[in-house]
Amino acid sequence: MKPIIAPSVLASDFANLQSEVEMLNASQADWLHIDIMDGRFVPNISFGFPVLQAIQRHAKKPLDVHLMIVEPELYIEQFREAGAEIITVHYEACNHLHRTIQQIKATGAKAGIALNPHTSVQLLDDVIADVDLVCIMSVNPGFGGQKFIENTYRKIEALKNLIISRNSQALIEIDGGVNQQNAPLLLEKGADALVAGSFVFNSTDPLQTIANLKNQA
Ligand code: DX5
Ligand code: ZN
Repeated sequence: MKPIIAPSVLASDFANLQSEVEMLNASQADWLHIDIMDGRFVPNISFGFPVLQAIQRHAKKPLDVHLMIVEPELYIEQFREAGAEIITVHYEACNHLHRTIQQIKATGAKAGIALNPHTSVQLLDDVIADVDLVCIMSVNPGFGGQKFIENTYRKIEALKNLIISRNSQALIEIDGGVNQQNAPLLLEKGADALVAGSFVFNSTDPLQTIANLKNQA
């Protein structure tokens, strides 16, 4: 099975967002990964609804929205209306994670949970059967272009085992520092979806870089 490739728009040229989205439309990317940062959950602010709506007007692929915000439950319906197909909230940002997952599903979106590097996959034991996606952060969230954390490989193995033991359908997404070097082992360990920001957008030929990530052996 070929991996799902989700380029992160965070690393794109915001002054030329339409052409960046059109490039992704024409590419072998499966999803557009959208990083929302609030300056509270993470020490950075990215962009909000007006920019997301501008992306949606041109995007021909599902929007995979990664909420790095506190109290995400306050904005789920608004993100769905702005075009999110997948809404991922952070485990660390939710006091009532089970409720928030149901809230996301009630909008018709797919529900994802993201885990910071320090958060054990075992904490998902009681919700894994209810979620569509788990995003393992392979950097500390907040910035593109950071170094990949090697411990991610064993987290993927542990999560894969948990998914199988609980008969869950959840996809495993890896976010942060993904490149052509680490992608093969990530996929071998059980990753289904790869997010890539700087590796795609800082390359000389983003279309080819996406194709290479998609079609590796
Ligand atoms: C980090 C974001 C990532 C980021 C990935 O907080 O969640 O999605 O854009 O960027 P790279 O691939 O450059 O690490
Ligand atoms: Zn992300």
